[in-house]
Amino acid sequence: MNLKDLNQIAKAMVAPGKGILAADESTGTIEKRLSSINVPNTEENRRDYREMLFTAPEAEKYISGVILYDETIRQKAKDGTPLVEILKKRGIVPGIKVDKGTQDLPGSQGEKITEGLDGLRKRLVEYYGLGARFAKWRAVLNIDAASGKPSRQALVANAEALARYAALCQAENIVPIVEPEILMDGDHDIATSYAATERTLHTVFEQLALHNVAFEGMVLKPNMVIHGESCKSPAGIEACADATVQVLLRCVPAAVPGIAFLSGGQSDEHASAHLGAMNARHPNLPWKLTFSYGRALQALPLKLWAGKAENVANAQKGFIFRARLNSLAATGQYDAKLEQEFKAA
Ligand code: 13P
Repeated sequence: MNLKDLNQIAKAMVAPGKGILAADESTGTIEKRLSSINVPNTEENRRDYREMLFTAPEAEKYISGVILYDETIRQKAKDGTPLVEILKKRGIVPGIKVDKGTQDLPGSQGEKITEGLDGLRKRLVEYYGLGARFAKWRAVLNIDAASGKPSRQALVANAEALARYAALCQAENIVPIVEPEILMDGDHDIATSYAATERTLHTVFEQLALHNVAFEGMVLKPNMVIHGESCKSPAGIEACADATVQVLLRCVPAAVPGIAFLSGGQSDEHASAHLGAMNARHPNLPWKLTFSYGRALQALPLKLWAGKAENVANAQKGFIFRARLNSLAATGQYDAKLEQEFKAA
C-alpha cells in the first residue's frame, strides 16, 4: 500500500467544489432507468448515454471522479476512444463498482448482505490496469422499528464485508469508497434514522479499524439522516442537515479526507439543499462534505436525452446544471432560488 498516493487520490475525489458522479448502475438497474424513457437496454444505448454524460462540456469543473460499471470501464466511445481515456484526459478520476450486489442474509428476517469478496483481489489488479484509482462497495440496510432493523447481525456482517473490501482495495493501491446505505423506505421519523445511522457508522468504523484500513486513504459514502419517505412528520432541510453533521462528528474519524453522500431517492432539489445547508451551517468540519450522486445528477439529463442524438447538447446542459448546483452546495453557496435558472433557460 502506498498511503501517500491513496491520500492524494482521496483528497482529489473530494476537492473543494467537486464531487463524484455515480454512473455504475448494473445492467439490471440501468434497464429501469432506460425503460423510463422508452429506450431499449442495449450495450450501444448504455454506451451512448454514458458517453453523453462523460463528454459534457465543463464537467471537470464540478466532477472529480466517475464510478463506472464493469462493462463501461471496457467500453469505447463512438469515435473509438476508451471512455476511461476521455475521463482521464479531463482530469476526472475513473472509479469502479466492485461489489456484486445483494443477496438475502441467511438467518435474518429478510435483511441483505452484499457479495463479491471472492476473487476480488484479482479483479482489483485488473481494474487498476484498466485505469481505476478508486472503487465502490455498497451495503444496504433497512429500517423497521417493529422488527428491530437494521439488526446487529446485518450491521456486523455488512460492516465486516465493507472492511475486508476496503483493506483489499488499499493493498492494491485503490481508494475504497465505503458505502453503508440505510434506505429511505418506510415511515420512520428523523430520530429513528439518526439512531440507525449512528449504530451503522460505529459498527463500520470498528470493523475498518479491526482490518487496519487507513482512514486517510478512503472516502465514506453514507446516507443523510432523513425521515422515511412515507413519514407523517417530515423534518425540515436544516434539521436533516444538522442531524447528519452531528452523527458524522460523533462517528467519523477526522483522518478521513472526505464524505461523499449518496442521494438515495431524494428529489434533485432536496439532495442539493441538504448538502448546501450542511456546508453553509457547519463551515469548519474536519472532513470535506460533498456528493456522490447517481439519480440526483442523472434524472434530469436522462429525461432530456430520451435516447435521441439531437437531444445530447441539451441533456448535457441539464447534467451540468445539476453538477454546478451540487458543486455550490459542496462549498455552502447553494441557494434554492438557483433552481429556477434551468427552467427559465
Ligand atoms: P443514488 O445517488 O442514486 O442513491 O446512487 C448513488 C450510489 O452510488 C448508490 O450506490
